Amino acid sequence: MASLEVDIASIEPGSTVTVKWRGKPVFVRHRTEHDIQLANSTPMNELRDPEEDSVRVQNPEWLVVVGVCTHLGCVPLPNAGDYGGWFCPCHGSHYDISGRIRKGPAPYNLEVPEYKFTEETKLLIG
Ligand code: FES
Repeated sequence: MASLEVDIASIEPGSTVTVKWRGKPVFVRHRTEHDIQLANSTPMNELRDPEEDSVRVQNPEWLVVVGVCTHLGCVPLPNAGDYGGWFCPCHGSHYDISGRIRKGPAPYNLEVPEYKFTEETKLLIG
């Protein structure tokens, strides 16, 4: 299946870009220092689907997740919700800045797709 190359050089810290990969949205978030601190200071016992931020990112400045809510598949909105990440308007799931589910009906964290950095500012998804 096709891989997708994404040039991330122009994505400003604090913003999220949505790309299409294999028919699904993928969120690429350029995280700020504050985002990274927030993601790493969350106690595991507060998480429904406990995962350290460090296992979800290859470079802490960049979060790459499939933009499909793990409840019933809507596309969550960036920079929204109670945890500084995403909010799914369909039934009210809140995801944090690591894409982890924090509140609402979704059972799992946003999926991390297979990807790698081919250059400092180039990402290959898939
Ligand atoms: Fe996202 Fe239901 S599809 S909360």
